[in-house]
Amino acid sequence: MKILGIESSCDETAAAVVEDGRIVLSNVIATSLEEHKLYGGVVPEIASRRHAESISGVVKEALVQANCTMEDIDAVAVTYAPGLIGALLVGVNFAKGLSLASGTPLVPVHHIRGHIASNYISSNVKPPFLCLIVSGGHSHIVAVKDYTDFEIIGKTRDDAAGEALDKAGRTMGLAYPGGVSIDKLSPEGDENAFKFPTPKVTGSPYDFSFSGLKTCVINTVHNASQSGKTINTADLAASFQKSVVDCLIKNLEKAAQDYGYSKIVIAGGVSANSKLRAEAQSLCRRHKWELHLPELKYCGDNAAMIASQGYYEFISGVKSDESLNAYATMPIDKSYKSN
Ligand code: KG4
Ligand code: ZN
Repeated sequence: MKILGIESSCDETAAAVVEDGRIVLSNVIATSLEEHKLYGGVVPEIASRRHAESISGVVKEALVQANCTMEDIDAVAVTYAPGLIGALLVGVNFAKGLSLASGTPLVPVHHIRGHIASNYISSNVKPPFLCLIVSGGHSHIVAVKDYTDFEIIGKTRDDAAGEALDKAGRTMGLAYPGGVSIDKLSPEGDENAFKFPTPKVTGSPYDFSFSGLKTCVINTVHNASQSGKTINTADLAASFQKSVVDCLIKNLEKAAQDYGYSKIVIAGGVSANSKLRAEAQSLCRRHKWELHLPELKYCGDNAAMIASQGYYEFISGVKSDESLNAYATMPIDKSYKSN
């Protein structure tokens, strides 16, 4: 079964064709990242306009590279939530038009479920497993009981890990996205140079909080500049990255032990982080747990992951009609219900 995936939730316009949820036949991405760099973050209006300009060409190219026409496609899977609303609407409306014109079923896909599925195209992993999802907008620990059955075990109370890395990176004067810059710079620094307090989260041992840590970095930079001191940015980047990764790994370890999972999966843009990948590997080696990480090319936003999750949603009976809307927020454990 061939699924055409379409993704436009943030600054990547992407389309892909995936067979049986696992085999990537094409994966095309156009990004407006360079334009957003000028502003130090994604400008929603610019992202939406670039999606509108690129989407037809990107979808056409994905079909050509997969050696397909719409007649070969069994369903169109599209990211409908969560994300920037204007950006999402471009993909959703394009997918609706394509579905109506070609008579191909339309399958709405949750973006974060898609990130989890980036592992289905990178390895042969199958649910059930425990997944740490870390992206620009989300930091979750989720029990993936089946391809379309999710239980949220832990989540961030404030900033997502990627968001905190991006904001801290901006304060340090690093290029957007800060998460990528911090990862690149950290090997040049001493990760023990700065000591940041471990965030205390009351109520759940699996929840995260990154905004206090981020504020510590911002205060460190501002205090130094006000007193005319220079800071070693590589030391600060490495120390902050270590603190963020320590929090992620600590809660992941506790959740896996308490819920009895020995199969661990990492997903989302921050899963490209070399420190997080290394620490997840050593955690799983220590406990003799099985670990799955997405290939680097599938860590960030792409449509192959949407087509993969779309396949599993479709075979479980999820389908939409032309009333499909886009939503800026949507819990991962909420199943799609048509109007
Ligand atoms: O999943 P994603 O592409 O978009 C969202 O769904 O949010 O994640 C983007 C986030 C950004 O915060 C970016 O800084 C972070 O992923 N990121 C990284 C790395 N690559 C991307 N953070 C740390 N290290 C990286 N190598
Ligand atoms: Zn994403």
